[in-house]
Amino acid sequence: MSTQTITKRLTLTDLANKKRAAEPITMLTAYDATFARRIDAAGVDCILVGDSLGNVIQGQNTTLPVSIEHMVYHTQAVSRGVEHAFLIADMPFMSYRDRVTAANSAQQLMAVGGAEMVKLEGGQPVLEQVSFLNDQGVPVCGHLGLTPQHVHRLGGYRVQGREQRARQQIIQDAQDLQQAGALMLVLECVPDELAGEISRQLQIPVIGIGAGAQVDGQVLVLYDMLGLTVGHVPKFSMNFMTDGRDVPAALEAYAEAVRSKAFPAREHVFA
Ligand code: KIV
Repeated sequence: MSTQTITKRLTLTDLANKKRAAEPITMLTAYDATFARRIDAAGVDCILVGDSLGNVIQGQNTTLPVSIEHMVYHTQAVSRGVEHAFLIADMPFMSYRDRVTAANSAQQLMAVGGAEMVKLEGGQPVLEQVSFLNDQGVPVCGHLGLTPQHVHRLGGYRVQGREQRARQQIIQDAQDLQQAGALMLVLECVPDELAGEISRQLQIPVIGIGAGAQVDGQVLVLYDMLGLTVGHVPKFSMNFMTDGRDVPAALEAYAEAVRSKAFPAREHVFA
């Protein structure tokens, strides 16, 4: 069992308190009920039904073919396995292109899927949607830096925010998302120091993936950290299925490594 005592379902208030207490927040992706149960039992704080399911479940090259129906199906499955973790679901490509579409997608993910928060990618172009969803009582998580739904516009999966102008834009977008009502932010593949600055500036929890150790929490794609991914594994990830661990032990080792700040180590960080 996890070293932390699990007593109740985690809420956004608990996560905000963890940020205030400088207690790292743990998050993993999941796509089905069995893994969700195991992640939940390992004491991981948040489960994200990521649209990375397009890559790891469907075998697609990008997340663009993932539909709202796929997301609802997997969110329903995951939610059946969750007792304690806070459950977040991704809004897939084009499912939040305007306020009404975003509201319909959030309604599907929350009312049908059982998500407690929805995540969407981008900055300035989605502020209106974030504000509208927030007004309707939908908790929203932003996602900046490497936003995989924009892979073609970004010219590939690469570190973002290294040049001064891009760095300033990410900082501005982060502030504006919080101002619009976002209650959490994921930062993907940005320099460690930029992620640290944003985490210190924002009141909301900032969760990193390839964003170094100065953020308020970490998320990894489940199949990467279980060593299942064939081919390219991102530099920022780590295989926890080592030292003779089984799956439950690897999940607990991940949670413990994030809480003790042993992960991410120097080799997982972008400068
Ligand atoms: O889809 C996903 O799994 C994600 C994480 C990489 C943050 O968005």
